[in-house]
Amino acid sequence: MRIISPSLLSADFSNISNTIKNIEDAGVDRLHLDVMDGYFVPALTFGPMIIKEIRKCTQCHLETHLMIKQPHKTIDQYINAGSDTIMIHLEASFNPEEELSYIRANNVCAGIAINPETEEKRLLPLLKHLDYILIMSVSPGLGGQPFIPDTLRKMENIVKMREGRDIVIGVDGGVNMNTIPQVYETGIDITIVGSGLFEAENLPQRYQDLLNV
Ligand code: DX5
Ligand code: ZN
Repeated sequence: MRIISPSLLSADFSNISNTIKNIEDAGVDRLHLDVMDGYFVPALTFGPMIIKEIRKCTQCHLETHLMIKQPHKTIDQYINAGSDTIMIHLEASFNPEEELSYIRANNVCAGIAINPETEEKRLLPLLKHLDYILIMSVSPGLGGQPFIPDTLRKMENIVKMREGRDIVIGVDGGVNMNTIPQVYETGIDITIVGSGLFEAENLPQRYQDLLNV
């Protein structure tokens, strides 16, 4: 499937509502929001207050990627901010089953993100709690990193692992005009694109190029 979820990490935040309008008019219907805590990953980005503001200016499905330690402590804030999907990191959570169930119980789709070095078999016991699996194709924490080709095999394995389950599979990191054809071939559903979209002068055109490559 070819669905692109732009990561706003690389967007111009001084003009974020216009940027969102611009890509929405081009057909974008979901947005990827990268929350970093300066602890699970070195960088700090934004939190629930900014997500609440983004919620006010778009109808897009908001997928919140929590790169934070001990997500259970603050998950309510991301639910209340208006996220449609919340993804926690398998490597950052003490009790992923409980947290995923809690997210679902609040009528938000529950997702798990896994780092490039984390083995896919660790997802097996969680499958029944998942609406979304986010496969990191770079180490989390920074936009604009090179795509790790070894993760393509993991994408194919996770697509097989899903079997008939109603789980969406996304890929995040280093996806651009050069790497996106191989990502589409794996059978994943959603491709997150940050710098590969926002570096372009003409965002609607780049969005179309990424879809039709
Ligand atoms: C990385 C983030 C990504 C990032 C992707 O830690 O989770 O969502 O914004 O950016 P690009 O597409 O530039 O690698
Ligand atoms: Zn992300």
